[in-house]
Amino acid sequence: MSVRTSLTCLSLVLSVAIGWTISRSGTDADSPAKESRIVLGLSLGTLQQERWIRDQEQFRKRAAELGADVLVQSGNSDGQKQIQDIESLITRGVDVLVIVAFNPAALQKAVELAQKANVPVICYDRMIIDCDVDLYISFDNIRVGKLQASALVEGLGGRGRIVRVHGPKTDHTAQLFKQGQDQVLAPLIKSGAIEVVHEDYAESYRPEAAKRIVNAAITAQGRDLDAILAVNDGTAGGAVQALLDEGLAGEVYVTGQDADLAACQRIMRGSQTMTVYKPLPVLAIAAADAAFKLASGQPLIAPHAVSNGYKEVPSILEEVIAVNRDNLFETVVQDGFHREEDLR
Ligand code: BGC
Repeated sequence: MSVRTSLTCLSLVLSVAIGWTISRSGTDADSPAKESRIVLGLSLGTLQQERWIRDQEQFRKRAAELGADVLVQSGNSDGQKQIQDIESLITRGVDVLVIVAFNPAALQKAVELAQKANVPVICYDRMIIDCDVDLYISFDNIRVGKLQASALVEGLGGRGRIVRVHGPKTDHTAQLFKQGQDQVLAPLIKSGAIEVVHEDYAESYRPEAAKRIVNAAITAQGRDLDAILAVNDGTAGGAVQALLDEGLAGEVYVTGQDADLAACQRIMRGSQTMTVYKPLPVLAIAAADAAFKLASGQPLIAPHAVSNGYKEVPSILEEVIAVNRDNLFETVVQDGFHREEDLR
């Protein structure tokens, strides 16, 4: 029996104690394990932000340790190209697909093709919505938003005028960040302690888009701003640029996420206040391990479930850490994520 046929039956069993156990049939004695090397397909929507390069490197490294081959495609921030990339990976015979969606709302057709070819699909970091995916591996993204908003509120002493720079509406993950932030901010906005003087969505998380949003806020509201709740380090970079132009950098609280090198350097210099450190190797290793298990018919445990609009997707959600100047070295540097000499 071929691996393809032996992988046809997907069974999901909800176990109250441990979460979802995902097992593709094919592990029984009558379904021999695959003899040739396993090939993992990795489709990235973009390699433009620093983090995706790291994710990719760590994924490849882990796959090599497991003895699997990896085929990688990058969509160059073009949703259409990513669909073609995925089609090509399926045609080239990958055993499983790991997808970092550029536009998670537009990949249903590609996921359908994978399912027809019996290729399991893992959503990496970003959920693909409204279709039948097998697994979601990400960080606890609601917690990312909560950590950003809580740090900001604490930094402002509970009161202030803020600008919110959201991630794009097309990214389901950006909605989760906002959801987490809203949980912290809603009562304070209601009581009037926090005033959102301006907010907008940064297209494709572009720094230039964030800079435009902050420029617009300053034009409309003046320089009386206490904080910029920037969704990630890329947009924080754009926001800081706008603040620098106005001579406000260092006076306004700025959030971020990803612990990009440039962001950690800004934190050391004082123009950005915090970031959320997402230990990418943990995620990439978990994804490579899960992909390998699905491809080789081994059962896999996913402790969480997250809805993608089509179903409750078995999910693995990794922990994140809020980082500022006080704990930058004991987290990001100690983990080997950045070198101390690059931050001094
Ligand atoms: C990721 C963030 C990243 C952003 C832009 C999001 O989906 O979760 O870590 O900063 O995309 O690439």
